[in-house]
Amino acid sequence: EEEERLRKIPVHAEPKSKKITSTLVSSLFMSIVLFLECPPLGLESHRVDDDQLLASSQSHHGFSAQRGRLNMQSSGNEEGVYGGAWCAEPEEKNHWFEVDARREVEFTGVIVQGRNSDTAEDFVSTFYVSFSNDSRDWTVLHDGYAEWLFYGNVDRDSPVMVQFDWPTVARYIRVLPQSWNGSLCLRVEVMACQLTSSFRSENEVNPTDNLDFRHHNYKDMRQMMKVINEECPNITRIYNIGKSSAGLKMYAMEISDNPGEHQTGEPEFRYTAGLHGNEALGRELLLLLMQFMCKEYNENNPRVRRLVEGVRIHLVPSLNPDAYELAYEMGSEMGNWGLGHWTEEGYDIFQNFPDLNSVLWGAEDRGWVPRIVPNHHIPLPENFLNGSVGVRATDVALETKAIINWMERTPFVLGANLQGGEKVVAYPFDMQPGVNHEMNEETWARMQRQNGDALRETSDDTMFRWLAMSYAHSHLTMTETQRGSCHTDDISGGQGIINRASWKPVVGSMNDFSYLHTNCFELSVFLGCDKFPHESELPLEWENNREALLSFIEQVHRGIKGIVRDMEGKPLANATISVDGVKHDVKTAAAGDYWRLLNPGEYRVTARVDGYTLQTRLCIVGYDSGATPCSFTLAKSNWDRIKQIMVLHGKRPIRLVTKPILRRRYRVLQMFHNKRV
Ligand SMILES: *[C@@H]1O[C@H](CO)[C@@H](O)[C@H](O)[C@H]1NC(C)=O
Ligand SMILES: *[C@@H]1O[C@H](CO)[C@@H](O)[C@H](O)[C@H]1NC(C)=O
Ligand SMILES: *[C@@H]1O[C@H](CO)[C@@H](O)[C@H](O)[C@H]1NC(C)=O
Ligand SMILES: *[C@@H]1O[C@H](CO)[C@@H](O)[C@H](O)[C@H]1NC(C)=O
Ligand SMILES: *[C@@H]1O[C@H](CO)[C@@H](O)[C@H](O)[C@H]1NC(C)=O
Repeated sequence: EEEERLRKIPVHAEPKSKKITSTLVSSLFMSIVLFLECPPLGLESHRVDDDQLLASSQSHHGFSAQRGRLNMQSSGNEEGVYGGAWCAEPEEKNHWFEVDARREVEFTGVIVQGRNSDTAEDFVSTFYVSFSNDSRDWTVLHDGYAEWLFYGNVDRDSPVMVQFDWPTVARYIRVLPQSWNGSLCLRVEVMACQLTSSFRSENEVNPTDNLDFRHHNYKDMRQMMKVINEECPNITRIYNIGKSSAGLKMYAMEISDNPGEHQTGEPEFRYTAGLHGNEALGRELLLLLMQFMCKEYNENNPRVRRLVEGVRIHLVPSLNPDAYELAYEMGSEMGNWGLGHWTEEGYDIFQNFPDLNSVLWGAEDRGWVPRIVPNHHIPLPENFLNGSVGVRATDVALETKAIINWMERTPFVLGANLQGGEKVVAYPFDMQPGVNHEMNEETWARMQRQNGDALRETSDDTMFRWLAMSYAHSHLTMTETQRGSCHTDDISGGQGIINRASWKPVVGSMNDFSYLHTNCFELSVFLGCDKFPHESELPLEWENNREALLSFIEQVHRGIKGIVRDMEGKPLANATISVDGVKHDVKTAAAGDYWRLLNPGEYRVTARVDGYTLQTRLCIVGYDSGATPCSFTLAKSNWDRIKQIMVLHGKRPIRLVTKPILRRRYRVLQMFHNKRV
C-alpha cells in the first residue's frame, strides 16, 4: 500500500508541474520500488556457492573470500581456518571482493559488514563498486560526476546497506575498499533481481500451495491466525501460553478434530519457533503450516485428515515476541547476528531452563538411579521459579516460566523447536558434563578434544537419531552437506543431524529439560544459514520444509501406546512405564494413557503404580506406521493395603473390621469440630 501511495503522489499531487519533472520523480520512485523488490543474491543464505566468491588476496587462509558472507561467524580461534570475514593481504595495493552472479542480473545495491571477532574492530569505511560482464573489463559506478564513493561501516557488526540510484545490468560485481579501520576485513551481501528475459534460475520456485508468503509482525500474525480459525473453526483453536515481559501474548494454534480437549489415547505434538526473535523463518513456516493444514483438511487431503484426527497438534510461532518485533523493524537483511536474539530482559530462552542434567548425572555417578533419583520427571530445583538458579542465570525469564507451565500441563509426546543460523537437526543431550555457562567456545573445544569420550548419551539415543533423520532426510536440501555447514565444514557427517552436546553444548536447554522433566522428546531444527530470510525466499523455504514438517509429526505414532487401568477399569494416572534396556521411563497422563516412542523391535514393558502389583508385557514394534497397542490392567497389591492400614492405626495391631467405624467416627468428630469453629 505504501509503495502504491508513493507511486501515486508525484502524479496527482502537482498536476500543474511540467511533465518532465513528473516523469523524473516517478522514475526515481520507480527505482526505489525496484530496489525494494530486489532480494539478496544469497551470500548469507549460501545460495551463492563458494566458487562464486573471489578476492584480490587474503591475509591468512582463515580469511578467504568464502568467509566474506554477510553474518559469517568465526570459530573464535584467531589462527583457525574459520575467520569472521574476508580479510585482504595488507601488502597488496588494489583490493577487491568479487561476486559472480553466474548470469546477467540487475544489481541494485550491496550490504557491507565488518569482521566478526571478539577483539578486533575491523571494518571498511569507504568503497567503490564496479561491474563487469566478463570479469576483465570493469566499469566503476559513477554518480554522474566522478567515481561514486560509498560510505560503509562504523562498527564491526551492524550491516550497512547502500543502494544505487539505478539498477545496473551485469554478471560480476566488485566491492573496492578505499579506507578501513583496523585491518581490511569485509562481509557482504549483494542485492540483485533476475532479468525477466533470462531463463529461470534453479532457485526460483513456483509454489504449489497458494499461501500467504509474507513476514508477519505481531499484529499480522494474530490476524492471520484469526483468519485460519474462522476458515477452520471445527479443527482449530487459538489460545496463548502466557505473556512476554513487554506484555505480548505467546499465541498457540491447536489443530485437532476435537480442539480444546485431550482425547484419551491421542498423542499431543508441538512445534515452537521464535525462541530467538531474529530467527524468523520458523515463525513463518508454522503460519504456513497452519494455513496448509486448514486448507488441505477442508479439501479432504487424506494425509492431513489422518494427522488432524490422530494427533493433537500445537503450533506456537513466536515464543519471544518482544525480540521478534525488534528484528522485524530492522528488516530481514539489516539486523546483525545478535539483534533480537534475547528477550527484553536479556535472556536466551532456549537455555534458560533448569539444569536437570547435573542432577541426573550426579545421581548416576553415585549409583542412585533409579532407586533414589528417578531417571525421568526429575523435579524442578527448589526455588527455581523464584530465582536463585545459580551460575549465570540468576533469574528465570517470564517466557520460560510460561513454557514450563505449558509443558507440565499438556501430555506432549514429541516436539521440535525451529531455530536458525545453521542447517542441521540437533538432538539431545544438549549439555556436556563439565561445561558451564561461563565457558567460551575455545574452552569447550579444548575440553572436547581432551575428553571426547565424556559425552553422555540419552538412553533413547537411537530413537533421537531416527527422529532427527526423519526431519533432515525429508527436507529437500538439509542433507546436501558437501558444500559444508553455514560457518564451518560439514558438522553433520553428511546426514544433516548432530548431537548438540558434541557441537555447541549448552546448559539448561529446552530439549534436555523436556526430556528429563516431562515425557516429551524435543529436538532443535536449525532451518538455514540466514536467520531472517528475505520475503521472496519464503516460497522456496516452504517447499524445502513442507514434507519434513509433516513427516516429523507422523513420527509421534512410532512405538507403543496404551492405557493403564485398575481391575474396575478405572484409569490410573501417573503410572510409570519402563522398557527393559532403556533407562528412561515415561508416565501415564490424567486419563491413564501413555505413549512410548520406540524404534522397531521387541520390548519387555512394565507398568508400575504405588499400591498395585506391577505388570510386565512383551510388546512388539513393527515397521508399519501406527503405535502398537500395549495396555495394562493392574491389581491392587495387598501389601500396600496393609501398609496403609498400619499407618492409619499408628502401627498398632490391625483389626480390619474396625476400619469403617473409624472413618465414621472421624467424620462425626470433624462435623463437631466445624460447628465449634
Ligand atoms: C552487460 O551486458 C548488458 C547487455 O547484455 C549491457 O546492457 C550492460 O551494460 C553490460 N554491463 C557492463 C557492466 O558492461
Ligand atoms: C578502529 O580500530 C582501532 C584498533 O585497530 C580501535 O581501537 C578503534 O576503536 C576502532 N575505531 C572504531 C570507530 O571502532
Ligand atoms: C463444522 O462441523 C459442523 C458439525 O459437524 C458442520 O455442520 C460444519 O459444516 C462444519 N464446518 C466446517 C467449516 O467444516
Ligand atoms: C518462592 O515463591 C513461593 C510462592 O510464590 C513462596 O512461598 C516462597 O517463599 C518463595 N521462596 C523464596 C526463597 O523466595
Ligand atoms: C506420581 O508418582 C510418583 C512416584 O512414581 C510420586 O512420587 C508422585 O508424587 C506422583 N505424583 C502425583 C501427582 O501423583
